[in-house]
Amino acid sequence: VRLRAKTGQLRGKKVVITAGGTREALDPVRYLTNKSSGKMGYALAQAAAENGAEVTLITTTDRPTNYGVTKIFVASTQDMYEAVMAAFPTADIFIGAAAVSDFKPATLAQDKIKKQGDGGVTLHLVQNPDILKTVGHQKAPHQLVVGFAAETNEVIAYGQDKLKKKQADMLIANDVSSPSIGFSSDDNVITILTPDQPAETLPQADKLTLAREIMQRISTLK
Ligand code: CTP
Ligand code: CA
Repeated sequence: VRLRAKTGQLRGKKVVITAGGTREALDPVRYLTNKSSGKMGYALAQAAAENGAEVTLITTTDRPTNYGVTKIFVASTQDMYEAVMAAFPTADIFIGAAAVSDFKPATLAQDKIKKQGDGGVTLHLVQNPDILKTVGHQKAPHQLVVGFAAETNEVIAYGQDKLKKKQADMLIANDVSSPSIGFSSDDNVITILTPDQPAETLPQADKLTLAREIMQRISTLK
């Protein structure tokens, strides 16, 4: 069933969301990635669609969606960056929920990398573009930019710093210090940071519940 809410606070709004962990190819058979499941981005897509938004999900993982969500599949950070840059100009809201790989191999080997004797190997990595920072710095006054930050310590201080540096309107700081929350788990503890309001920590809950809380706060900022 593909449903679209006909009413809701985000009716008529275009929402672009990123989800999942990006994959950086080393050679034709190997890549570097992270533990992201994409669940939070999918939950946000559902919550936005429930609120009447037109949702584009730029994602590295394929999961079921009940609502009319347009999925664009990408692998690397560069792919995700290009898809976001293409979708952002007509978006009202951007939410960067993907776990973007900060680094990628400096070169992509055309053939499978072979062992050389008994020695190890040193990988040379270069930095990827920062998607959230790019959209934060190029957003128009009517556009709202929301980011995430997974931290293991100093969650609020590091989150505030990212909110400012990336010029986001909202940053969801996520405590990943405990294995029972964050990344592939179904539950999260999040703190919502905005430039003008005090930090708000929500009680531990499943990702869909949190996504609905986040969308409700986003719709009050729009
Ligand atoms: N992000 C991004 N592009 C990158 C790196 C991060 O868009 N190249 C986005 C993530 O999707 C997230 C936010 O920036 O919404 C914060 O990501 P995080 O990894 O916590 O912050 P970094 O700026 O990468 O800082 P660091 O990993 O060094 O703590
Ligand atoms: Ca990072």
